[in-house]
Amino acid sequence: MLTIALSKGRILEQTLPLLKKAGLKIADAELNSRKLILDTNLDDVKVIVIRATDVPVFLQHGAADIGIAGKDVLLEHGANGLFELLDLGIAKCKLMVAARDEGKLKQSTLKIATKYVNSAKRHFEGKNQQIEIIKLYGAMELAPVVGLAHCIVDLVDTGNTLKANGLVPLEHIENISTRLVVNAASFKTKNVQIKSWVQAIEKNL
Ligand code: ATP
Ligand code: PRP
Repeated sequence: MLTIALSKGRILEQTLPLLKKAGLKIADAELNSRKLILDTNLDDVKVIVIRATDVPVFLQHGAADIGIAGKDVLLEHGANGLFELLDLGIAKCKLMVAARDEGKLKQSTLKIATKYVNSAKRHFEGKNQQIEIIKLYGAMELAPVVGLAHCIVDLVDTGNTLKANGLVPLEHIENISTRLVVNAASFKTKNVQIKSWVQAIEKNL
């Protein structure tokens, strides 16, 4: 049995067609149900649909063999016990520092609102900047506007959300896209099955 963990939300919509092209189908009735483990057209493959941030956790503990998650989530969680095998090239965006203007970054201790605590720390440590992190779970763009933080570290695609809130992108941290990752132990014990899925997906990218 192979268990594939998919990220809910925006990645899911773009992942399903890739799986379908590789021969894995999940009926709409399954997707629209309240079930957490979904049957597929194949008896030996199950799918779980979970929050994006939980995908590396399930994988690391061996509760799933293959996972689909954003590079932002993987960078934040760390790669212990996981192998990243494919860049699916979907849900592309950039992890960036943004503020109302460049001058806001000139602080002896820079207050940063973000859900990407580890990535933000790594970025500013590399610049020898002293920081204070304010951990948020969403609506990061609001923080500089209401004086909660000097800047944010968040994902930027079109830039519309920044613009709508009077912020500008200032520093690039990473290019982000969706990756296929595997549990390191599964990659050994189910190597043939995993490799054939990875090849089938890669062929259709
Ligand atoms: P959760 O609700 O679990 O906190 P989320 O709100 O971050 O997750 P989504 O907005 O569906 O979930 O984003 C999932 C993934 O999609 C992100 O981890 C990132 O890799 C990618 N992503 C997020 N925002 C964008 C965007 N604006 N453009 C392109 N890709 C994005
Ligand atoms: C993401 C991200 C930014 C926005 C950037 O949010 O957190 O707010 O997209 O995209 P843009 O540059 O094209 O405007 P999302 O839409 O996923 O909402 P959420 O963070 O509330 O889940």
